[in-house]
Amino acid sequence: MATSIHVENLVKTYSGPREVTIFTDMSFVVNPGERLALIGESGAGKSTLLHLLGGLDRPTRGSICYGDTDITRLSPAALAEFRNRSLGFVWQVQSLLPEFTALENVMMPLLVRGASPLAAQGPAEAMLAEVGLGGRLHHRAGELSGGEQQRVSLARALVTEPEFLLADEPTGNLDESTATQILDLIERLQSRRAFTSIIVTHSPTLARRSTRTLRLSRGGLFALETNFPNSGTVTMEPESHV
Ligand SMILES: Nc1ncnc2c1ncn2[C@@H]1O[C@H](COP(=O)(O)OP(=O)(O)OP(=O)(O)O)[C@@H](O)[C@H]1O
Ligand SMILES: [Mg+2]
Repeated sequence: MATSIHVENLVKTYSGPREVTIFTDMSFVVNPGERLALIGESGAGKSTLLHLLGGLDRPTRGSICYGDTDITRLSPAALAEFRNRSLGFVWQVQSLLPEFTALENVMMPLLVRGASPLAAQGPAEAMLAEVGLGGRLHHRAGELSGGEQQRVSLARALVTEPEFLLADEPTGNLDESTATQILDLIERLQSRRAFTSIIVTHSPTLARRSTRTLRLSRGGLFALETNFPNSGTVTMEPESHV
């Protein structure tokens, strides 16, 4: 459990009729065990960056290495396998299957990796108990409250015991106290399971409770700043935004 993420010279341009460059040349390192907050105004490219880190989208140029593995060079099958094995993802938009129960939703990534339903059930139940939803196993996801759904999403992301958790505004639509509970939960789980987390947030509270904050900003050029000068690099390539 000591894999760093090295992002080098990342460029992302969405092509098409409304071509837009999100990053021009971005490099940074995420150290093992960090709880990294990624902040920045709406449209700055936070979700884009998280999707690239999660292998859900490909950069225009640049590399994203988890240890020795450059995920930008993996075949689709190898990438899918890497994601299932090493990454847990909580999406900005609710992504549970609403007609399936909380338990079935959390079992899903284990089934994807080839576990039998019988083998998947135990760990999924244990994970749901860990996020405080032992009493909601058989509720359909669509019947759960927003905060409960976020906890199921977290359970689904962590049931495979990934080395990395990538979460896009996991407390985005929640009231302050529920958001704090989710945060407490992530911290508790992280101290127990020692994964590295990258969490996109608009919440100053969440950012304060991270071990490091990176700000993604826009305004003609895109820059990445860090409040701990030595733990991440700051790379900006001033280039007109198109
Ligand atoms: N598939 C796409 N094609 C073209 N442009 C896109 C695409 N996806 C995102 N963008 C643009 O890229 C920019 C960054 O989007 P992104 O979703 O990464 O922002 P964000 O920082 O996550 O914002 P928010 O805080 O609102 O979630 C936006 O201007 C958006 O319109
Ligand atoms: Mg976003």
